[in-house]
Amino acid sequence: MPFSEKKLHEFYSEVGESERLSVLDTSALPAHIAIIMDGNGRWAEKQGLSRSKGHAAGVDALRETITACVRLGIPVLSAYAFSTENWKRPKKEVDFLMQLFADTLIKELPLFHQEEVKLKLIGDLSELPKKTQDTFQKGLRETAQYGNMTLVLAVNYGGRAEIVRATKRIVEQGYKPEVLTEDLFAQNLYTEGLPDPDLLIRTSGEMRLSNFLLFQLAYAEFYLTDTLWPDFSRSDLLSALLAYQKRNRRFGKAK
Ligand code: IPE
Ligand code: IPE
Ligand code: MG
Repeated sequence: MPFSEKKLHEFYSEVGESERLSVLDTSALPAHIAIIMDGNGRWAEKQGLSRSKGHAAGVDALRETITACVRLGIPVLSAYAFSTENWKRPKKEVDFLMQLFADTLIKELPLFHQEEVKLKLIGDLSELPKKTQDTFQKGLRETAQYGNMTLVLAVNYGGRAEIVRATKRIVEQGYKPEVLTEDLFAQNLYTEGLPDPDLLIRTSGEMRLSNFLLFQLAYAEFYLTDTLWPDFSRSDLLSALLAYQKRNRRFGKAK
């Protein structure tokens, strides 16, 4: 379903939301929002639950964010789900996450079909358990034709690994140093063909990139919130967008 102001107003129709939505300029939204979904573990610990419960609750927040972005007509949403450094966590947690990725994708495929969202995966999938890889391949196949929004899921993703991979690809293709440009480099990143993120959101109060989209975030606006990822709602997304629209993006220029 293409962008519709009416559908958007139906989606943000609760008390307080409509007023805030009315000040949002829907013609000046980010082309790409990147999110570091952080704080699942702390959310769970705060209420005496296991970290796994926090990750499961994080899925609900992602679902709501995807739906909101579709309603807003955001073309690309990237979500950091598992970093190259997250293998250092206890095996039990890593195994749980890999299973959760597979189970969630199967469960949520109808949403992708309904909203015509294309799935894209970035990161080294070859290191994931076979079952997770197979499920991801199924998700990619089944959603390849959609163009309403692209959901970029970063799994076993690291910005440094991506930069090294791009360099290797360029060398393998035999390019001479003098023809190497920023554009050529970008074409060899996982995110080839996608616009750079305009807005980076990180939840849970941390103020670092944790190896996410190092090349692509060069001029993104940062929105950091103390809200823990499972608590992140469509209303928080609206707050992020309103803050984004107040920024003065100079890209190095002077008045
Ligand atoms: C983010 O939540 C999810 C992943 C990294 C997989 P965390 O699991 O990092 O939660 P905290 O930071 O420990 O609270
Ligand atoms: C970043 O969160 C990775 C994801 C959200 C998937 P982490 O929780 O792993 O980051 P650090 O360790 O606090 O930097
Ligand atoms: Mg964390």
